[in-house]
Amino acid sequence: MIVLLHGPSPERLDAYRQQLLSQADSGLTLVREETGFRLPSFKEHFGFNDSVSQPDIEGLSKPRRHTQNTVAIGEVLLGYPDGYGILPITPVVPNPADPESLLPPFPGTELPDVKDFGHNGSFLVYRKLAQDVAGFWRYIAAQTVDDQGTPDPEAMALIAAKFVGRWPSGTPLTLAPEQDNPQLPDKNAFAYLAEDADGRRCPMGAHIRRTHPRDSLLDAPGEGSVTTSSRHRILRRGSLFGDPLFPLDDIEAGKLPLDIEDDGQLRGLHFFCLNADIGRQFEFVQQTWANDPSFNGLYDNKDPLIGDNDGTGTMTIPRCPVRQRLLNLPRFVAMRGGGYFLLPSLKSLRFLANAP
Ligand code: HEM
Repeated sequence: MIVLLHGPSPERLDAYRQQLLSQADSGLTLVREETGFRLPSFKEHFGFNDSVSQPDIEGLSKPRRHTQNTVAIGEVLLGYPDGYGILPITPVVPNPADPESLLPPFPGTELPDVKDFGHNGSFLVYRKLAQDVAGFWRYIAAQTVDDQGTPDPEAMALIAAKFVGRWPSGTPLTLAPEQDNPQLPDKNAFAYLAEDADGRRCPMGAHIRRTHPRDSLLDAPGEGSVTTSSRHRILRRGSLFGDPLFPLDDIEAGKLPLDIEDDGQLRGLHFFCLNADIGRQFEFVQQTWANDPSFNGLYDNKDPLIGDNDGTGTMTIPRCPVRQRLLNLPRFVAMRGGGYFLLPSLKSLRFLANAP
């Protein structure tokens, strides 16, 4: 079991933690504890804003209008139709286990003998992802050095942004191809085909273009791609572990980490996501989009940020007159632990608390 505690300050969080741990009759044994935090700037350890894009959920998100960013409730919550119009698979309990009828019946008529334990719950993916921050910035610096071995900060900032698909502020390259524009009112209202079909702004292989291709999947560009993309969305939350290796707001301020050395400390992202179907959503994004070198017309490119690169792959950056190819891409993010969990609804938690 994983218990996630959140609090507005470390003190409040610790008080809550103590309160829970001191409940001797809880029947729980603490196996392992992890801590995490978020920065006011929402920066992750490489120096980029990691809080921009989330799917809107039909009927729940505001404004209540259907856009290309809207997904069916059943993409995230069990018990509601998903993007295919069918109910996601849900865990059940036999009727006699719920004498007080706290849980709703299994929907439909096929399984009259069971209750829907998953209703209003979701599946939670947790991954502890270590980030090689020094390796990331040293690799990028090495791509920009002149004959004297001096790196070019401006070129570094551009390459890092091409890896992510957004500038450090979160502004997408597709909307602001030349330089960061932190004032952009809506950093998420864009698609790729109209102005960026060939990836000269945001490369095909960039992290955000692979993990959410929007309208740019080559086998069905446009509406078909938007529909396919909407069937592989996840609700993400991240929290950082480990001290930042450099002041994370520096990059946005134009100060690049030129001579960065690793300090031997573990740091990275506690990655969480919610989805109704882990195979079709989280695993698909990780395996079929991030780790596949032949994603969307590419042939030797894995996700430069989170792909399981092994030093042999490439990052292709479309440019005019010739593309740039960055070779021997190392791995910058490695998994240190994690698991798949059911996040039960309040009703299901009450049912568990009532159990004999
Ligand atoms: C240490 C690991 C990771 C880092 C540093 C990272 C960083 C980022 C950043 C900077 C963004 C852009 C800002 C935003 O839209 O919020 C982003 C977006 C995103 N990331 Fe990651 N990420 C990591 C792991 C993952 C993993 C494991 C997945 C899923 C398999 C993932 C899926 C996504 C998705 C779906 C988006 C939004 C794309 C869009 O809608 O445009 N990320 N990530």
